[in-house]
Amino acid sequence: MKIICAEDYADMSCKAADLLSEQIILKSDSILGLATGGTVLGIYNHLIQQYQKKHIDFAQIRTVNLDEYTGLSPDDKNSYHWYMKQNFFSHVNLDPSNCYLPDGRAESPAEECSRYEQLIASLGGIDLQLLGLGHNGHIGFNEPGTGFDEKTHLVTLSESTRQANSRFFPAENDIPKQAITMGIKSIMKARRILLCVSGAAKAEILQQVLFGPVTPKIPGSILQMHPDVTVIADMAACSCLPEEYRI
Ligand code: GLP
Repeated sequence: MKIICAEDYADMSCKAADLLSEQIILKSDSILGLATGGTVLGIYNHLIQQYQKKHIDFAQIRTVNLDEYTGLSPDDKNSYHWYMKQNFFSHVNLDPSNCYLPDGRAESPAEECSRYEQLIASLGGIDLQLLGLGHNGHIGFNEPGTGFDEKTHLVTLSESTRQANSRFFPAENDIPKQAITMGIKSIMKARRILLCVSGAAKAEILQQVLFGPVTPKIPGSILQMHPDVTVIADMAACSCLPEEYRI
């Protein structure tokens, strides 16, 4: 595991975008696993700038997102479909038919989960998976207690996760109670993983994820077992890590 301490959010975003750009340049038909949330917004901004400068080209890139809320249509401003379109897809030359997210409105979530898992396999698996970190150590929407052997599945969101994401919704009642997420097993199959973490509020959980016991109680801790993980975190998020990882 490679741990990079960035100066601040802007530096973290820039360093993470550089790693993604390198992947795109070296393999122009990469399968990128993408994430949502506040942390990764700066990364998408950098990638858009790199694209505008013609440094990177998304023509052959395919993307698979980690998760989607249930019950929201792709046009719902709170859906992750909408988030991705607004913050990234519509600004670069990604072919919309090459961008995949779970269908949160599927009549049978169970069927949708297995369809999504098969889709990822049929693409040949994920070359590089981008991850943020939840305040309780979740990755994707894999909440504490999720089995490490779970593939894409339906989850009931914890109250703390709904609260943490409430800033994106007009009212508390609008926050969905469930989501479809790639499972830990799906995430661990990615050939490379990039975990990005920002802010002092995640410093303690990041320390547990990287240096604590590997346990389903802290879903992100499984990343310690992956052979190719890069962690890019800002100074505030690194403040509880051993001294050699801080700047
Ligand atoms: C959500 C998403 C995760 C994301 C996490 C952290 O729950 N499902 O993929 O990593 O929140 O979000 P933020 O970056 O806004 O703190």
